[in-house]
Amino acid sequence: MARYTYLNRERFAGKRILDVGSGTGVSMLSFFKEPLTNLPEHITMSDYSDDLCDFLRNNTPKQESIGVDIQRIDWTQKDTYEHLKNQRIDFITGTDVVYKGCPYNDLAQMIDFVHKNNPQLEVLIMLPSERPNGAEFIQTMKDLGFEFSKTELTGLNFQAFKSDKESKNMYPGLTQLVFYMYSYKKPAP
Ligand SMILES: C[S@@+](CC[C@H](N)C(=O)[O-])C[C@H]1O[C@@H](n2cnc3c(N)ncnc32)[C@H](O)[C@@H]1O
Repeated sequence: MARYTYLNRERFAGKRILDVGSGTGVSMLSFFKEPLTNLPEHITMSDYSDDLCDFLRNNTPKQESIGVDIQRIDWTQKDTYEHLKNQRIDFITGTDVVYKGCPYNDLAQMIDFVHKNNPQLEVLIMLPSERPNGAEFIQTMKDLGFEFSKTELTGLNFQAFKSDKESKNMYPGLTQLVFYMYSYKKPAP
């Protein structure tokens, strides 16, 4: 996601982004990196873990040109995201947030809730190939009325390691995966 946002910076210029399941916040880091042009207007990073929210508060770089806030949002608890109905959100981003055991159907419901107030909302979810439950999440999003396009993230720009050997030492299997960016939108009624 960090590489995708870096390479597609102009798409996010002046936009308001809600990043879900932010973890350590790596996905949004490219917006804090030179060149500081085409910046979003605002980024909310979120996670359900209090510890990760504290980590994000303490470690997110200061960037005066972008409004940044950290929110504890749990997809399974509507009261943690109900306030979003009053906010303009142009993009929801999620990296590695659909996996076995995580409540991805609740994530889909949360996304649908945000969409109600933001009909232009675009949702970018990065999924690796062979991810169990990926198909179920896609089906849930379709059932909610979202259409999607899928882009394979290939080429040197998305290559984390120079060789299979390097990958084997640091992250076995990573170079065997193909990563896809799913872009979800609802057609205008
Ligand atoms: C595999 S990590 C990905 C973290 C980050 N997006 C990244 O790519 O480095 C999944 C993240 O989803 C968060 N998560 C899991 N269940 C959640 C829930 N119910 N509500 C919000 N976040 C959740 C976890 O705390 C974790 O940070």
